[in-house]
Amino acid sequence: MTVQLNHTIVHAYDKAESAAFLSEMLGLAPPVPFGPFLVVEVHNGVSLDFIDADPGQQIEPQHYAFLVSEPEFDVIFGRIVERGLPYFADPGGQEPGQINHHYGGRGVYWADPGGNWLEIITVPYGGWPS
Ligand SMILES: [Fe+2]
Repeated sequence: MTVQLNHTIVHAYDKAESAAFLSEMLGLAPPVPFGPFLVVEVHNGVSLDFIDADPGQQIEPQHYAFLVSEPEFDVIFGRIVERGLPYFADPGGQEPGQINHHYGGRGVYWADPGGNWLEIITVPYGGWPS
């Protein structure tokens, strides 16, 4: 099988703000303009292509989850704390100020400037394949 997710479009109220936020929080390369998009590429070749919403358009928040190493989790979570951003252990936002330890790893949720729900995990859902 060679099917791989290559890119997806992320609607934003301010694509520059949202794209910069994601790249800074995750420690990725700065966003690169491509047509009307600002492209943020993660390390498995998938890109999130930010585009400004139409004036007055209400964006339906989406969810983006990133698998990171344990040391990367420390750094990214450190940025969340340093910026004083609200964070949660659960996707429903019912466990503020906590992280989770699902599947023996660590995970945390927080919001981007456009209201999207970001997540970092150190172990994939269901655990590592045995
Ligand atoms: Fe998730």
